[in-house]
Amino acid sequence: MKNTDVRETIAQREYVNKSRELVLKKEDESGKRLTASVVTFGCQMNARDSEKLAGILVSSGFELLEDTEDADFVLYNTCTVRDNANQKLYGHLGEALARKKKNPDMMVAVCGCLPQEPTALEKIKKSYSFVDLIFGTHNLYAFPEYLSRLLSGERHICEIFDHTDNIVEDLPVIRKYPFKSGVNIMFGCNNFCTYCIVPYVRGRERSRESADIIEEIKNLQKTGVKEVMLLGQNVNSYGNGIDGEISFPELLKRVCDIDGIERVRFMTSHPKDLSDDLIAVIKNEPKICRHLHLPLQSGSSRILKEMNRHYTKEQFIDLALKIRNEIEDIAITTDIMVGFPSETESDIEDTLDVIRDVEFDNAFTFIYSKRMGTPAAKREDQVSEENVKMYFDKVLSLVQESAKKRALIWQGKTFDALVEEVNQSTEGFVTGRLSNNMLVHFKGDESLIGNIVPVKLDECRGFYYIGSRV
Ligand code: 5AD
Ligand code: SF4
Repeated sequence: MKNTDVRETIAQREYVNKSRELVLKKEDESGKRLTASVVTFGCQMNARDSEKLAGILVSSGFELLEDTEDADFVLYNTCTVRDNANQKLYGHLGEALARKKKNPDMMVAVCGCLPQEPTALEKIKKSYSFVDLIFGTHNLYAFPEYLSRLLSGERHICEIFDHTDNIVEDLPVIRKYPFKSGVNIMFGCNNFCTYCIVPYVRGRERSRESADIIEEIKNLQKTGVKEVMLLGQNVNSYGNGIDGEISFPELLKRVCDIDGIERVRFMTSHPKDLSDDLIAVIKNEPKICRHLHLPLQSGSSRILKEMNRHYTKEQFIDLALKIRNEIEDIAITTDIMVGFPSETESDIEDTLDVIRDVEFDNAFTFIYSKRMGTPAAKREDQVSEENVKMYFDKVLSLVQESAKKRALIWQGKTFDALVEEVNQSTEGFVTGRLSNNMLVHFKGDESLIGNIVPVKLDECRGFYYIGSRV
């Protein structure tokens, strides 16, 4: 069954044209350019969505600003995975209100994951009633329509869908980096980890067709993209639900076959169903970056079961060590959460064991955050703040130790780096990303941006290197 909706793409492009006329008219009246700014919270998926939202704004005639300060239209693309993401948005909205008081014509919009959660949506509508437009994750593609309605003078537009089966392709995009790009290969999540709100706010898993993905990457390559990051909540289940669709390892191979694409990354691969086929493809395809993000969450088999993760402590360690054995120079990074309901000191000891055994190259550590509507939030055995802090400090310090130790291994060696930007803090330096996702700062100028150059890692400074071109 084809799930891409071509008619919707055409309809939305019409709205972009309409908005462009309205923007021009407003500019004629006011004698100045209309400006917009997109503020992004959260994960790589949101970052990619924001590139699409920015593309629509620019195609509609807005001048895009980095800063929200002077923008006539501010769009917040939100995250709600942890409560601090919600709090951050509320802080930004407070500032937006102050600006809107000075400039009543300013338009404010909120989209993405947060409004998909009913209590957060109510809070925005009630406490931040000045927000002019609210939409969610399932109708992001309809932004051109909402924008044209706003430009026509409509206010208080709020449209949230509770699900979608459609995938709308081919709307305009503005990329943050000309030489690299995220590419969605699937949307949503079916895993229902008991702490996680993502399946509720991003809906059921839907894969894009491989032909559409390959086509998109070929087109990206033609515009100068060398590195792609394939994005999905669990890329291992790519293709499920589409008759005759290829598997994720096969998709990776086909992406590697595209001339001019020099680096391929992907995120995220769930430890429960990471296949030997995938390990073999990573090993045999030099274009696939030596980096695997493998979220552990907890090292305690009891907690993992209660989280609905479908693997044990031992299975995780075996998998990680198998990957390290097969692909010697791979960096394994992870996500670890502390303070899941009922977690004890002995569960944390299990987590510390896994960190010691696997020696992660890096880890994001999070404090468990109660998310409305998830099974874990209903539990009465929440962990005290005091214990959470103690657990968190233990995990963080071991993770940092492990990351430092791993980074030192590569000191003195030479690797290719894709130059991403001019270094902000040291004049005359640029910053490049290694295949293993670590950063190296070395002498160079703007002209190197977007090039892949060999760099010797002279000095390891914990989480990054100082290097020199060879
Ligand atoms: N509390 C804290 N961290 C969470 N994550 C997901 N849900 C929660 C939550 N309720 C973390 C997981 C996941 C990462 C993207 O966010 O570690 O891998
Ligand atoms: Fe959330 Fe689990 Fe899905 Fe990841 S796999 S998005 S943690 S439910």
